[in-house]
Amino acid sequence: MAPSLTSEAFAAALDRADPLARFRRRFHVPRGTIYMDGNSLGLLSRDAERSLNRVLGVWRTRGVRGWIEGPDPWFYAAEKTGAAAAPLVGARPDELIFTGTTTVNIHALIAAFYERRGRRTRILADALDFPTDIYALRSQIELRGGDPEADLLLVPSRDGRTIEEEDIVERMTPEVALAFLPSVLYRSGQLFDMERLSREARRRGILIGFDCSHSAGIVPHCLSRWGVDFAVFCGYKYLNGGPGCSAFLYLNRRHFGRKPALAGWFGNKKASQFDMSLDFDPARAAGGWQISSPAILGSATMPGSLAVLGEAGIGMIREKSIRMTSYLIDLVKTELGGPPYDFNIGTPLDPRRRGGHVALEHPREALRINEALKARGVVPDFRPPNVIRLAPVPLYNTYREIRRVVLQLKDIIDRGEFRAFPRRRKAVS
Ligand SMILES: Cc1ncc(COP(=O)(O)O)c(C=O)c1O
Repeated sequence: MAPSLTSEAFAAALDRADPLARFRRRFHVPRGTIYMDGNSLGLLSRDAERSLNRVLGVWRTRGVRGWIEGPDPWFYAAEKTGAAAAPLVGARPDELIFTGTTTVNIHALIAAFYERRGRRTRILADALDFPTDIYALRSQIELRGGDPEADLLLVPSRDGRTIEEEDIVERMTPEVALAFLPSVLYRSGQLFDMERLSREARRRGILIGFDCSHSAGIVPHCLSRWGVDFAVFCGYKYLNGGPGCSAFLYLNRRHFGRKPALAGWFGNKKASQFDMSLDFDPARAAGGWQISSPAILGSATMPGSLAVLGEAGIGMIREKSIRMTSYLIDLVKTELGGPPYDFNIGTPLDPRRRGGHVALEHPREALRINEALKARGVVPDFRPPNVIRLAPVPLYNTYREIRRVVLQLKDIIDRGEFRAFPRRRKAVS
């Protein structure tokens, strides 16, 4: 008889058949934990650790000469890492630069791409966006003398979890100058059809950019083929670059002639940067949008991290990610669906519409159940009002871990264990 979905044997068989299982050894998995938070902060790989140590070694032994000496001179690091990450998101090598931070890159891009032209004064975003994106959009509108109440159009959600693409397209009206959307909604994990949205935007003369922080490194992209105008993504989620590491800025080649709005000397053409001319001559590449000296220490893990991702292959990663999230969803439906558990899946059930994490909703006790899970050594995260996010990461999580998390959730409810925790949320949840 075939083992049942919830049996240990079923999970073990999935692990045995997993072509990416060997990659777990390449990561430092915190002892005694089941780490399910790679959608917030990915784990450190031994490869990333080595590449950071190499940079420290260069600084230790060469000092300032590290900018131009050695196998990886820092002066070219942002371009080189951008090119190395390009296949992950379907960019051409010079369309991607490893620079700044996500929010700063959003500001830099919106400042240049948001032009109020006649009746086209609006920016289109959505009501379930990550807050920093909305803060940046509002402040950019204000900087242009606009009114965020009138000029920022947030596509509403029909169910409080997801946004229908057709609702976005419907709002791509002649008043919209620019659309800036997430690739994956951070709470529910819904993946947008970026190709369709880009096509519809272009058809209507609207520029379109994406915040791909929740899809880079877990979902394949074809940013250039889809005709996306610009994009940003952080390096610390599925790209495993470490807390607060540098971020990526994507610029479609057709915009290489466009003047960066926030000019800085590292955006200047490399060959003439040290001429120290007072006339800014930006590189005709995404690199032209750099502002400051690259944060070499905050960038140093990424080459190692990208090597691991490249070895595994983004196609294989996506395939396993879908298998893992499907398995998790099936287990939750089977084990935790009805009373007294009452869990609901907030993530689209169609795998083509979801990113790398699953949102478990609980009508009353998500916060305290999340705390109880943490006390048992599971690392999930909580997003108000009622979502526990779980991200099984193909490179370092196992199917057995997924099963154990679901059984832990069941046990926490059976024992009423969550009642021991306060209803107050910690500063970072
Ligand atoms: C979609 C999205 N954008 C941006 C950020 C954060 O931006 P920053 O890297 O500037 O802190 C996050 C953080 O989780 C995010 O989920």
